[in-house]
Amino acid sequence: MSKLTGKVAVVTGASKGIGAAIAKALAAQGASVVVNYASSRSGADGVVADITAAGGKAVAVAGDVSKAADAQGIVDAAIETYGRLDILVNNSGVYAFSPIEEITEEHFHQHFNVNVLGLLLVTQAAVKHLGEGGSIVNISSVVSRITPAGSAVYTATKGAVDGITGSLARELGPRKIRVNSVNPGMIATEGTHSAGFIGSDFETWAVSTTPLGRIGQPDDIADVVTFLASDDARWVTGESLIVSGGSR
Ligand SMILES: NC(=O)c1ccc[n+]([C@@H]2O[C@H](COP(=O)([O-])OP(=O)(O)OC[C@H]3O[C@@H](n4cnc5c(N)ncnc54)[C@H](OP(=O)(O)O)[C@@H]3O)[C@@H](O)[C@H]2O)c1
Repeated sequence: MSKLTGKVAVVTGASKGIGAAIAKALAAQGASVVVNYASSRSGADGVVADITAAGGKAVAVAGDVSKAADAQGIVDAAIETYGRLDILVNNSGVYAFSPIEEITEEHFHQHFNVNVLGLLLVTQAAVKHLGEGGSIVNISSVVSRITPAGSAVYTATKGAVDGITGSLARELGPRKIRVNSVNPGMIATEGTHSAGFIGSDFETWAVSTTPLGRIGQPDDIADVVTFLASDDARWVTGESLIVSGGSR
């Protein structure tokens, strides 16, 4: 039997990048997956098609995690479609670097609304349904440890994610629900391509700080998330696990 047979998972921001890889990896282990997207309907449909073609179960569900009604709707879709919820992966995120002189209120609120408020709203909706053995995995970032120049707002959101992870692990531990974060180093995704990170001096610097000598791929993260979502990680909670090829 696969590790996640009979389990139901919600993955936010699963239309592309790291979230898409996580959705496929969880489904490959037998989970039925809600593939959330905000704007990329075709991307989410493609992820669902890949999962079903491989014999898995998935459904695409639209929703902006930073809106409470949408966050509730994403979780409701899991219950309505599959009847239960066991795993939540809070992956949706935005990232734009900005020097201190150029930080605006809009930049601040956009990052905190998606990366922090969105994570809290989806988690709030999910905890009504998660039971003993439930697992929440928050996608943070190694930036909360290496604090790169020009990333104050984004890094602050991921510091918040690490803090929320520790607090919720204590709050939900008595209900036997585990809460961990995975903190990736630089990963080749649609987002890092469109942000101009891939092929830039920033990528060169990132590789230079990485003992394993490359940037990561989405599957490098998805396999670790699958471990934390599974009962193999039954004694792991409140951790922020850096998955960065050794960059820290
Ligand atoms: N790539 C990296 O180097 C790296 C490193 C460390 C941490 N991370 C973290 O990993 C996560 C994924 O990054 P990525 O590089 O895979 O990003 P990406 O390629 O830009 O994909 C972002 C995903 O988030 C979704 N999203 C954005 N705003 C949303 C909202 N308001 N509501 C719901 N979904 C929303 C997008 O949906 P639509 O496309 O449908 O709009 C998309 O599916 C983020 O939390 C990021 O901070 C990434």
